[in-house]
Amino acid sequence: MHAPEGLEGFDPLDTRDGIPHDALTRLRAEAPVYRTPGGVFYLSLQEDVLAGAKAVDVFRANFREPGVVVPPEEMLVSEIPEPRHGQVRKVVNSAVAAHRLGRIEPVLRELTSELIDRALAAGGGELVADLITPIPTSIIAHLLGAPPEDWALWARWSDEVVGGDYPTQNRTERGEGLGGGHPEFAAYIDAMIDERRASDDPPPDFVTRLLQTRVEGVELSDVELRTLIAFLLISGNETTRHLLGNLVQTLAQRPDLFAALRSRPERVANFVEESLRMDTPVSVLMREAMQDTEVRGVAIPRGSQVAFGIASANRDERVYDDPHSFRLDRHQPKGHVGFGGGPHVCPGAALARMEGRVLVELLVARVESLSLPESYQREKVDVFWANGPRSLPAQLSA
Ligand code: HEM
Repeated sequence: MHAPEGLEGFDPLDTRDGIPHDALTRLRAEAPVYRTPGGVFYLSLQEDVLAGAKAVDVFRANFREPGVVVPPEEMLVSEIPEPRHGQVRKVVNSAVAAHRLGRIEPVLRELTSELIDRALAAGGGELVADLITPIPTSIIAHLLGAPPEDWALWARWSDEVVGGDYPTQNRTERGEGLGGGHPEFAAYIDAMIDERRASDDPPPDFVTRLLQTRVEGVELSDVELRTLIAFLLISGNETTRHLLGNLVQTLAQRPDLFAALRSRPERVANFVEESLRMDTPVSVLMREAMQDTEVRGVAIPRGSQVAFGIASANRDERVYDDPHSFRLDRHQPKGHVGFGGGPHVCPGAALARMEGRVLVELLVARVESLSLPESYQREKVDVFWANGPRSLPAQLSA
């Protein structure tokens, strides 16, 4: 489909200056299947994104450079084809099952409360680093059985893996997997596995359970174990950090919403959903077409790169009235695709929602004023698919 007039050369995957919502609105109306200057097919309508996410035999996630083939044991959960994916998913789901979340909520509340106390005592600070980053990293470590006090390591390593900027790395020599991409992170996880294998009485945690798990009748190899644990540590961290950052930024810049939540705290869950929709932390999902296909009459040849435009789909005017307004009274607040859809829909959604809800509940209950300097300009984190503030130099008082 040709570019709409005035949008020639527009690249929806270039998010360095933030998500280009005005141009995405035009794509939805005039070129809902749009070929970017880099040759990627960008789908902007919610219906197409959802259908694409469900069609796992047609569109497959692929996080590698074109032409790079990874051995199956180094595939990330999102990349594993069915039916094996379904089996691995059961293992992942068990890490974040509802009964485990119920047990972790008091730990989350205490941690968040302490971090708010500290920020209040300091009158504010750089809230992405001081208040937000420790929350998802410590909680995912608690859930998996990694030492929570090492949260700062996860945070740094996750950033390095996701940003692809591990110092001195040389992927061609070390291979594509985590062992090649980030040997320090890989060694840390290998040590967790080795300790449990060597112990007569290993702790009753997720990593121990994983060692005994069979997928299709066979135990997971050490490389598979490492890849899965690392992926969970990373995915439980990055995206949730952006959600929490977006929530705090909105609270600081929208005193009307802050006041509304203070008088009606039962609306906090809707506030979290609306943030996931409007400021979706994962703005795009990349896929490879596994066969020749077609969307809205546009031919997509096998091997093409396809982008599911989550940020666009979540503001699709065919689905939402007044899509660019932040509203606490949406009819179906959870109807967005911020967590993807189909068989790969995010298994950590309930955990992420809980972390968002607890942070906002405690902030509106305990903080009298939360503000950002007038000169504050949001700078987005510089990973193209991620959408969260890089920093929040806020003032806070009780
Ligand atoms: C606000 C926070 C989060 C957002 C916005 C988010 C978003 C997403 C999205 C959009 C997908 C689909 C990926 C695809 O189809 O290619 C996904 C998958 C996934 N997420 Fe999350 N996520 C969040 C938090 C978490 C947490 C806390 C965990 C930790 C358990 C987690 C673990 C995963 C895993 C393992 C997958 C792969 C699932 C599969 O392929 O079957 N996520 N997430």
